[in-house]
Amino acid sequence: MEYQEWLKKKDLEYKEGILYYDNMDTQQLAKDYGTPLYIINEKLIRKRYNQLKVALNSEYKNNEIHYAVKANSNLAVLKILKSENASVDCSSVGEVYSCLKAGFPPDKIIYTGNMFTNEDLKFAVKNNVLINLDSISQLKRLVNIYDELGKKKNAISFRINPEFGAGHHSHTITAGKDIKFGILDDQVVEAYSQAKKYGFEKFGTHIHIGSGILDPSDYEKAINKYFTIIMNLADTLDITFEFIDFGGGLGIPYKPEQEPLNLRQYIQVIMNQFEKVIKREDFGGPTLKIEPGRFLVAESSIILTQINTIKDNGYKKFAGVDAGFNTLIRPTMYGSYHHIIPCKLTNGTTEQYDIAGPICESGDILGKARLLPTVHEQDYLAILDAGAYGFTMASVYNLRPRPPEILLINGKSYLIREGETFEDLFRLQKLPKHLKKV
Ligand code: LLP
Repeated sequence: MEYQEWLKKKDLEYKEGILYYDNMDTQQLAKDYGTPLYIINEKLIRKRYNQLKVALNSEYKNNEIHYAVKANSNLAVLKILKSENASVDCSSVGEVYSCLKAGFPPDKIIYTGNMFTNEDLKFAVKNNVLINLDSISQLKRLVNIYDELGKKKNAISFRINPEFGAGHHSHTITAGKDIKFGILDDQVVEAYSQAKKYGFEKFGTHIHIGSGILDPSDYEKAINKYFTIIMNLADTLDITFEFIDFGGGLGIPYKPEQEPLNLRQYIQVIMNQFEKVIKREDFGGPTLKIEPGRFLVAESSIILTQINTIKDNGYKKFAGVDAGFNTLIRPTMYGSYHHIIPCKLTNGTTEQYDIAGPICESGDILGKARLLPTVHEQDYLAILDAGAYGFTMASVYNLRPRPPEILLINGKSYLIREGETFEDLFRLQKLPKHLKKV
């Protein structure tokens, strides 16, 4: 894909050398709100959701897209997706809480935790949220909680580990024998058989094999195995399923030479197996669920950062900026590539820089050996595709308060999260009496 077109798909465009995001001048936004600054693009979130929904609908209407909240849990983002009629996938009680707060009805929330405590389970049961268990050992505890609260049992689902994983980094591959998630093939019948004995009447199944998958064929082996397991389960225990969940993992093109995920092919890989379920009348057409996080929100956010220092150490050049791995940890944690571009183009020369943050660690490099038009101290840069696992993984390491977030829509910008202050960082700390006087 041609570079300008690649940018345009992310709603980025240079006009007379100035970078515009959703038709808004990024330099002006940086001046108005300060840096570092997270900017979220409402239009793009809606666009990605609808692209996916239309593609799914064209194959199988009884589908549900559960947005994986861990990617970006800002309330405005949740409200945008709620208004599109999305469902949500939560990985913690905190995320369930935030979705209830955003107004999602409980039957649109699926809680796929792992290492559940009894308190986690209790919160989910009390709030009528669907639970996706991750270990057989959790089932008895869940049943006790239902009994204790005198609640009618909801549908139950287990996360199945189909052993074939995929993902952009080993930390994001979530299937395989040595991986902590889900239950393996030979425990699946036992899990559902116990659930049936305990009186559960409605069942679902779930997999999530990893994150950051751009090649649809990476899903094939896992999904084929998933369906062998599902069919065997149905036949052995004589049960059917309310829903079959395929998890998330859909990647996005972080690099200009990457093509976007081919949605049609991705859905085809699912449908090749799902057809088996549709064909069986006794199954009654379960809901096809997927749980994308990154695909819906990654491209709909950029970070603006200001260069404070240009350092030429005689060996290489560093562009020192005010965003670091406290702001965006993906490059440090996974070696992830985020494209970085200037907010204002200069004519003529280009140079190679390491884009370095202000954190006191050598690993605080946001981009290595990047070729940029010559930049100067005080210039602004945009770090692209920061909407997924950006702010949600940000920290206050080195006591740097987390930055503000703004939302763009219809030519206007709205502050949707204030930047933290130093006071915020100390709000929860308390000193024992003997240290107060020191
Ligand atoms: N469903 C479940 C059960 C998950 O664990 C995840 C992500 C998703 C859905 C959404 O996956 P997505 O569609 O966003 O790939 N911090 C890493 C990604 C970790 C993903 C964890 N689970 C990163 O920045 O790449």
